[in-house]
Amino acid sequence: MKPLAVGVLISGRGSNLQALIEACRDPATKAGIRLVLSNKADAQGLARAAAAGIETAVVDHRNFPDRARFDAEIDRRLREKGIELVCLAGFMRILTDEFVDRWRDRMINIHPSLLPAFRGLDTHARALAAGAKLAGCTVHYVRRELDTGPIILQEKVPVLPGDTAERLAARVLEAEHRAYPAALRLIAAGRVRVEGERIFIDGVETSASAAAASRPSG
Ligand code: GRF
Repeated sequence: MKPLAVGVLISGRGSNLQALIEACRDPATKAGIRLVLSNKADAQGLARAAAAGIETAVVDHRNFPDRARFDAEIDRRLREKGIELVCLAGFMRILTDEFVDRWRDRMINIHPSLLPAFRGLDTHARALAAGAKLAGCTVHYVRRELDTGPIILQEKVPVLPGDTAERLAARVLEAEHRAYPAALRLIAAGRVRVEGERIFIDGVETSASAAAASRPSG
C-alpha cells in the first residue's frame, strides 16, 4: 500500500507535529509527511520538520488581502505536493468554508478538550473554572464550524486537586501526543470511514448518534 501523503499545518511550537513525525518513522504507520506549512516564519515546528528532512513552507497570512486568497494559496501548495490528508496541529488561522469543504473528510484537527465541551481557546482554564473533573483531547474531522466535526478518537485525562491551567495543559498535551498519532495510524490503515457526520472504525459505528440509537428509551 502506498503511504498516505500527509500535509501538516502549524503556527507554533509543533509538539504535535513532532509526535506525528515520530509516528511516521514507524514503518507500521502507512503515512509520510510530505509538507509542513506554517503561517508564521518563526514557528518552532518548522525547525522540527527541517531536522526530520521534511519539506517546509511559510505562507504568511499578512501577505494576502483576505482569507480566501490565503486559503487558496495553502490549497495550491497542498495539492502541488499531492497531499491526501491535512493535519491541523496548532494552526491558529480560521479556515474559510470553501477550504474546509474542499478538504472535507480529508482534514483532521486535534483539540485540547473533550469536544463538544470547551470549543475555542483557553480550554484548560475554562475546564478548571467549570469544575470539570475530566479533561482530555479530541481528534476530529474538520467541519465549517470551529472545533466541530465527526470525532475519530478522544483520550480523557483526570483533573487533579490543585491543578493550574498550565499543569492540566501539560498532562493533556501528553495525551495529545498519543491520540494524534493513533488517529493518523487508523486513517492511514484505511480503518476509518466517515459517512456524513458518522464515524465507523473497522466497520463499527463509534459516533454519538450510534450511542444514542443503542440507548434504551424511556
Ligand atoms: C495543542 O494543544 C493542540 O491541541 C492545539 O494547539 C496546541 C498546539 O501545540 N490545537 P503544538 O504546537 O502541537 O505543540
